[in-house]
Amino acid sequence: MVLNCIFITFRLLFFSTYNPTRVYKASLDGTTVTQIVSGLGDVCGLDIDICANIICWADHAGKRIECSNYMGDERRELTRTTGKPWGVAIQDGVAYYTTGTPNRVSSLPLTGGNVTILDIGTFNTSSFYGIAILHRGHHCIPTGIWE
Ligand SMILES: *[C@@H]1O[C@H](CO)[C@@H](O)[C@H](O)[C@H]1NC(C)=O
Ligand SMILES: *[C@@H]1O[C@H](CO)[C@@H](O)[C@H](O)[C@H]1NC(C)=O
Repeated sequence: MVLNCIFITFRLLFFSTYNPTRVYKASLDGTTVTQIVSGLGDVCGLDIDICANIICWADHAGKRIECSNYMGDERRELTRTTGKPWGVAIQDGVAYYTTGTPNRVSSLPLTGGNVTILDIGTFNTSSFYGIAILHRGHHCIPTGIWE
């Protein structure tokens, strides 16, 4: 219940643009838009850790995973990636991200440390793109609207 209240307090929408590459935050009705991050390569995936109050993104061209607070401050590089990253998803203090060439899903703690390459087998595909994590019991009161 307490976590749900935090969600109500922070009703924000985040999005990234390409050329110029920026990260913005906005109100859910889109009336208030603020640029929070610039100086990026090419930001594809975004995800939020509501416990740590940070947003992280996959910088495809910059080949790195970065995070900042909701104002774009306290920005830090989580890791430089071997392949170009597309998607990032955060759960329980761990960032999971997809890359192409090599095609991988990797993870590392938000506090830093070693990268783990998930053993998900070999795929004959150009690149891994999107990623999302299902973790029931966190972040929401299930409503089952799509069940
Ligand atoms: C990272 O990996 C190195 C080499 O395997 C190991 O010595 C080190 O303890 C690891 N660091 C963390 C934070 O797990
Ligand atoms: C991989 O995919 C390509 C394009 O679909 C196909 O031409 C090729 O035969 C596939 N290779 C293997 C080993 O399945």
